[in-house]
Amino acid sequence: MSSVLAIGLMSGTSQDGVDVALIDTDGERIAQFGATACRPYTPVERTLLRGATAAAANLTERTARPGLIAKAEQLVNDAHAEAVETFLIANDLKPANLAAVGFHGQTLLHRPERGLTVQIGDGHALAARLGIPVVYDFRAADVAAGGQGAPLAPIFHRALVRQLNRKPPIAVLNLGGVANITYIDGDTLIACDTGPGNALLDDFLRLHTGHPLDTDGRKAAAGTVDEGMIARLLQHPFFAAAPPKSLDRNDFRGFVGDALDGVGTENGAATLTALTAAAVAAIVPHLPRPPASWIVAGGGARNPTLMRMLAERLAPAPIESAHEAGWSIDSLEAQAFAFLAVRSLRGLPITFPGTTGVPRPLTGGVLARP
Ligand SMILES: Nc1ncnc2c1ncn2[C@@H]1O[C@H](COP(=O)(O)OP(=O)(O)O)[C@@H](O)[C@H]1O
Ligand SMILES: [Mg+2]
Repeated sequence: MSSVLAIGLMSGTSQDGVDVALIDTDGERIAQFGATACRPYTPVERTLLRGATAAAANLTERTARPGLIAKAEQLVNDAHAEAVETFLIANDLKPANLAAVGFHGQTLLHRPERGLTVQIGDGHALAARLGIPVVYDFRAADVAAGGQGAPLAPIFHRALVRQLNRKPPIAVLNLGGVANITYIDGDTLIACDTGPGNALLDDFLRLHTGHPLDTDGRKAAAGTVDEGMIARLLQHPFFAAAPPKSLDRNDFRGFVGDALDGVGTENGAATLTALTAAAVAAIVPHLPRPPASWIVAGGGARNPTLMRMLAERLAPAPIESAHEAGWSIDSLEAQAFAFLAVRSLRGLPITFPGTTGVPRPLTGGVLARP
């Protein structure tokens, strides 16, 4: 099969922005990484996305778009279209150069146990505006077939790992709003969400400082971790369950509840950062062997306090950032959706029994032609 150019678009549960990435791939190997970009959401846009996420909590129908959710979907489409239009100009690309755009959309609700996962973003409208075929709605077929619908990047991680020299088993950890791991050992591919990523921490910081993240982990570095609280939070039944398993962005919000009220910004940030690290370490007993190499991507890899806590809790296994492995910290997920779009065009499977619990390898994504 010949290699083609595809753009991937990811707007994760951190709701920080739209990541854009170009890759050259046949859906099996990555011939070349191309340019990357990010189109951040403005504070006003983030408020709308948060409102729509809250409004989506009670949805029972994945295609329903009441009130705020319709407004948020229009924002998501406009932000993604702008992101691609700017990217094409900046990189001297024409729509005709691209085989596909992989459009994840914005998850508002993820309830696979109810057969429900809701991503907003209208692939047909995006394809019409861009004049490029768009592959979207990547999670639906998997959930309809009984899978978790997440994570979706594992088959991309495996392709990357095959082109990298690291000691197996290799764990690729993505620290987005939710954290997820891909475990690769030869042909063995296992994946799941591990627990909270940055979302709880971001929400806590916004509430206590008005700023939406703990920049460079500075608040957490100045605080003290409440290990008793970590031990209590690790009693959540999610951590006792074997993979595959996945989470909604807000699953732990109620469980943490008011436990951090009054502890102070630094201590609260330290404890939530440690919770993310401890939750990652808690997956290791569920894996066939402890990973010998850890590669960490996603915005959380830019948080040195989180990286230090991870290194402590995963020791003696070495951890390195995606950047150190020659990959992208910020664009790995966007690259994954470019790769998945090409796999979808070619009818190749994107989810597997080991990654989502789907009964057999399954393709996914819906093609919208311009
Ligand atoms: N310099 C930084 N210091 C601390 N945290 C950071 C930094 N840069 C990014 N992050 C974290 O990463 C998040 C974005 O990560 P991202 O991989 O885009 O997640 P998602 O896929 O959920 O959108 C931010 O919300 C923030 O929590
Ligand atoms: Mg993001």
